[in-house]
Amino acid sequence: MSRTPILAGNWKMHYTVAESVAFVKELEPAIAGYDAVERVVCPTFVALASVAEALRGSAVKVGAQDVHWEAKGAYTSEIAAGMLVGLADYAIIGHSECRKYLGDTDERVNLKIKAALGAGLKPIFAVGETKDEYEAKHTADVVTRQVTVGLGGVSAEQMASLVIAYEPVWAIGTGLNADSQYANTTIGLIRQTVRGLYGDGVADALRIQYGGSVKPDNMAEYMAQPEIDGALVGGASLKVPDFLALVAAAAQVKG
Ligand code: PGA
Repeated sequence: MSRTPILAGNWKMHYTVAESVAFVKELEPAIAGYDAVERVVCPTFVALASVAEALRGSAVKVGAQDVHWEAKGAYTSEIAAGMLVGLADYAIIGHSECRKYLGDTDERVNLKIKAALGAGLKPIFAVGETKDEYEAKHTADVVTRQVTVGLGGVSAEQMASLVIAYEPVWAIGTGLNADSQYANTTIGLIRQTVRGLYGDGVADALRIQYGGSVKPDNMAEYMAQPEIDGALVGGASLKVPDFLALVAAAAQVKG
């Protein structure tokens, strides 16, 4: 089964509204020709509307970096999934920084995934083990639990709109990118978990990205792995030439 590779840039807390718009105006024409790769930029919430406007008519998609699990209510500072409709196609959910700094648990991630799907957003559902879990060789248990709890109550039909990002926490922003075979093996295990939950059709169609210190010089190596369907990229997505190089590598190897 061939799966369309997906490259998503997670800008985290970088770039003002004006900087985000200037960035996509430069990026869009540079990556416009690479239709074999799905391309997504995930700016901060405040830049979503302006970035969506700047990308109107482009194949480059927009993603939010989180959603709240409730549709509305007394949740000062939060953003409901429904508020993102028309501004974003995707929403990153369960990023390790949200788990670490904002208190996201597997159960909360599950509620957020269901809220996003309910609003018509496509979740980029992030999972991955911490350094301690990695060193204790608990990766398989951790990602299996995260995937199983995170997908609770998600239907097979909804799975067609969902992407999983396997991001070992120790590899994020550290320059210590995971060995590509290790990433491939873990992603294969995640796919097996999904196979157990939903069967072959869903598992074989599901796109699973690798994330964690992906750079232009290691992108091709990840893309050469059969289980890896793209990348969720932080630091290297903040420079137009690097973003372009990532897309070009994905197109060359998997396009
Ligand atoms: P990084 O971040 O590419 O800077 O390691 C990846 C991520 O947090 O999604």
